[in-house]
Amino acid sequence: MNIYKNYSLKNHNTFKMDVSCDRFVEIEAETDIPAMVMKGLFREPFYILGGGSNTLFTQHYRGTIIHPIFKGIQVMEETDDHVLLAVSAGEEWSSLIDYCIEHQYYGLENLAGIPGNVGSSPVQNIGAYGVEVKDCIERVDAYYTLYGNAFSLTNEQCQFGYRNSIFKNEYKNHCLISRVWFRLSKKEHYNLSYKALADAIGNETPTLKNLVNTIINIRNNKLPDIRKIGCAGSFFKNPVVTKAQHATLLAQHPDLVSYPVDEESVKLAAGQLIEKAGWKGKRIGDAGVYDKQALVVVNYGNASPKEITQTYENVISDVKNIFDIELSPEVNIL
Ligand code: EPU
Repeated sequence: MNIYKNYSLKNHNTFKMDVSCDRFVEIEAETDIPAMVMKGLFREPFYILGGGSNTLFTQHYRGTIIHPIFKGIQVMEETDDHVLLAVSAGEEWSSLIDYCIEHQYYGLENLAGIPGNVGSSPVQNIGAYGVEVKDCIERVDAYYTLYGNAFSLTNEQCQFGYRNSIFKNEYKNHCLISRVWFRLSKKEHYNLSYKALADAIGNETPTLKNLVNTIINIRNNKLPDIRKIGCAGSFFKNPVVTKAQHATLLAQHPDLVSYPVDEESVKLAAGQLIEKAGWKGKRIGDAGVYDKQALVVVNYGNASPKEITQTYENVISDVKNIFDIELSPEVNIL
């Protein structure tokens, strides 16, 4: 493991916030984890950081940032139909997608282009274009940060929900995810339920490669290139409201987009609410809301954490005033 003191986080968060932390610990091997627990590294305030693509640092972090960098993709089981892969937390998500294309494994392709590392993927159950990562997760291996002992959770035990899991609730700050097991199909099949994706594929015969390219094109047209513009993807979750609330809202705003959730509730598109509140493309100094997708709060250059915070707080309060809906951030704010 590598330990750095008073370490800059500027290159470890896609929002490009120029902040630092008291201590930054890179875990190079899973076997280092029990020793880290012995050293007390998990006993003070700590935060586990993957690719830094879903975190907004608003100030210097007074504690330890733990950064797993151990990589590896292992085939644990294989049949004619399926393959079971165990993937280490520090593996980049994009490398796993490349691996799946190379080996013709189906299931994760709609999640192409999502930044970040494999270890973070179950935490908020990443999702896009009709697929959530929970659809392919068999189990998640982790370590308790209090005792250093390993444990494993089945898909069901992870309590996955929309941008949610046990790792954001009961296990928050209590465990470090070390490996994620994915059950992927070897039989060719695609999920084209998302209309814009089906439209873009059109009459072409889908293949893993052209589907991934199409998704990356859709993303490039809507979402900022994180190499150029600081952001953390969708900043807010799409809000879930009751059917009664939805009916009241529809009377005033008949064009509101919604998706069924269950008998009692529907999900609205936060991007549309933010756009209607006049925030799409709005920029104050270097902070703002992206002009092609209002769900994304952006740092156009050198925005300070305070400017980003003011921006997202103003968005929340304007949406609340107009629609009486309280948007919740999807990103972790520290
Ligand atoms: N919309 C607007 N204005 C906007 C943005 C969206 O009116 O500025 C409307 C669109 O017209 C559409 C609806 O809102 O009718 C939904 O938009 P979109 O399909 O772009 O998806 P989203 O709900 O805004 C979610 C995920 C994205 C994911 C896309 C595609 C969340 C919080 N976000 O966005 O995930 O890529 O669906 O599946 O659920 C991320 O989490 O970082 C992320 C980018």
